[in-house]
Amino acid sequence: MKKLNIAVLFGGCSLEYSVSLESAHAVITHMDRTKYSPVLVGISPKGNWLHFTGAVEKIKQDTWNNPDDCAPALVSPDRDAPGLLVQTTAGVEKISLDAAFPVLHGRNGEDGTVQGLFELAGIPLVGCGVLASALCMDKDRAHKLAQAAGITIPSSTVLTKKASKENAFACAEKLGYPLFVKPVRAGSSYGITRVMERGGLPAALELAFAYDDHIILEEAISGFEVGCAVLGNDTLTVGELDEIELADGFFDFTEKYTLKTSEIHVPARISPAKTAEMKEAAQRIYKVLGCQGFARVDMFLDKDGRVVFNEVNTIPGFTAHSRYPSMMKAIGMSFEQVISNVIELAVSK
Ligand SMILES: Nc1ncnc2c1ncn2[C@@H]1O[C@H](COP(=O)(O)OP(=O)(O)O)[C@@H](O)[C@H]1O
Ligand SMILES: [Mg+2]
Repeated sequence: MKKLNIAVLFGGCSLEYSVSLESAHAVITHMDRTKYSPVLVGISPKGNWLHFTGAVEKIKQDTWNNPDDCAPALVSPDRDAPGLLVQTTAGVEKISLDAAFPVLHGRNGEDGTVQGLFELAGIPLVGCGVLASALCMDKDRAHKLAQAAGITIPSSTVLTKKASKENAFACAEKLGYPLFVKPVRAGSSYGITRVMERGGLPAALELAFAYDDHIILEEAISGFEVGCAVLGNDTLTVGELDEIELADGFFDFTEKYTLKTSEIHVPARISPAKTAEMKEAAQRIYKVLGCQGFARVDMFLDKDGRVVFNEVNTIPGFTAHSRYPSMMKAIGMSFEQVISNVIELAVSK
């Protein structure tokens, strides 16, 4: 059988560039080479697109972007020539693509923009499409749609830069402290502050506005965060739930990538009834937001046993030890199988 050419996009013009390098390295090294040939496309932090032909380790080391290993490349949206156009010294070389797997996190990668390019080109896309990606990147709009589907969400208010300080204080007082201030569209906890009292609000607003022109003030939910790995287009498979045990009530960037004081439990240490309820909620959220392929749905289980939606990550961390693969491993699906499954879900559409 002919091997499928799968474009693996890595890096990205995003704050989460380095996280993507880790995920992409893992995806490339765990891809079933009897079925797939990865075509590596690196995107520099500045947004340059390059066809990379060097050693895979260079991706992890972030030494991939050099003239010996890279050539400028672009994806043509022309449907008569779907593929990667690589500029070589001899001219333009075309590499046909059977699917594209954006292993990119955050803005300009997980938010529907890159997805739009592949949809336009008619190249099957691994994971969520334009609309679901954009909705899931927007914490406020994702909440509103989930709420319309009967899911509980945190109380919140969105502010733009035009909002006065008085208005911000009034909104915060209504929600009560502690509260979370977050950019509406970001990830990896960038720009997020847990505000304990009134005095902490101005700095939190300033930080969040550095990442987005819309920010969200959210009531702090007690209890703990639970993730659900969902896989599928119409028929869904869910992994075991995971549970984030935090020492300090905030899963910040450092904790996410070092787990110094926090611990992740798979499966989550919750009752079978709550497990079933949260898996059902996760699938409902996945469907109402129009997710395809795969996504990780994050929720809170509060101290009163309420299931509260947090967010959907359409391209969650994807190393062999990341949360999504770990939740799938717990139901017997290896990382290699997860990668093959998400590719097949794209190609079979
Ligand atoms: N409303 C909330 N209540 C309690 N904790 C929160 C709330 N919002 C965010 N957090 C904490 O902040 C972390 C990051 O917030 P999240 O909305 O998931 O943004 P990101 O997209 O950066 O992961 C969460 O994992 C959680 O620890
Ligand atoms: Mg999160």
